[in-house]
Amino acid sequence: MTQPRAAVATTTPLSRSLREGTRHAHRVVESASFIQGLLRGVVDRRAYARLLESLLHVYTALERALERHREHPGVRPIYAPALARRDALLADLAFYDPTGALRRGSPSPATLDYVARLRTLDERAPQLLAAHAYTRYLGDLSGGRVLRTLVARVLQPPPDHGLEFYRFPAIADAAEFKRRFRAGLDAIESSPTRARAIVEEANRAFAHNHALFRELEGSALRTLLRLLRSYPSRQPLDRGGPAHAPTPVRT
Ligand code: HEM
Repeated sequence: MTQPRAAVATTTPLSRSLREGTRHAHRVVESASFIQGLLRGVVDRRAYARLLESLLHVYTALERALERHREHPGVRPIYAPALARRDALLADLAFYDPTGALRRGSPSPATLDYVARLRTLDERAPQLLAAHAYTRYLGDLSGGRVLRTLVARVLQPPPDHGLEFYRFPAIADAAEFKRRFRAGLDAIESSPTRARAIVEEANRAFAHNHALFRELEGSALRTLLRLLRSYPSRQPLDRGGPAHAPTPVRT
């Protein structure tokens, strides 16, 4: 018996739909000012700690939901405890926020929105959780390596501190793991309508991440202004200003 041609032609693997369907959102988030701020060295430890604190809430909600629904057909093929980031975030926060001041404060509005969405999916639409796992974990395994280098260069934590988030001790080969994760996505049974909903949800996940970065842009800008304001007082007046870019303030 021959396969109906239309069925073959219209079945796009979910991993490909996600990659193609979020390409624009990826470009947007990659060029967010906060990331650019990291590149330019104007993100300080305090701003970075706030990002980690937000991510702790996000991953706590995501990982709780994935765990709860690990037998759901939309979650089981991509469920991988080796990806879990919660403990790594706690370890990094112990370094960047040693007094726990951030932990005692309220989560930011963008964090609350992101977490609320994850809780809604946990309660009512676990079939869409794969979109959030895709956006965060494949991102962490991909651009995460670039971010690690940036964070190490800009914030200069001492050896063995502050970079746990980028370490996956249970994953020996990230490229192979990503390949298997994509195969897991492709094994999720989904109609074209369901696949579209998952891609739409992934775009929503990117938008939530962009909102987290946008919230932090203000603090990167404040760091820059603080540096500029403090600069003349550290320079003899007759030198005519800085001969090189200011280095970031470490808090
Ligand atoms: C400095 C910022 C970033 C850089 C340089 C970066 C870079 C990259 C690169 C090079 C890849 C391709 C890896 C490959 O083909 O194996 C990738 C993939 C990916 N990134 Fe990013 N990224 C950044 C930020 C982000 C952020 C903030 C997110 C989401 C929160 C994200 C989500 C993803 C996802 C989901 C993929 C997998 C795409 C796919 O193959 O389907 N990235 N990133």
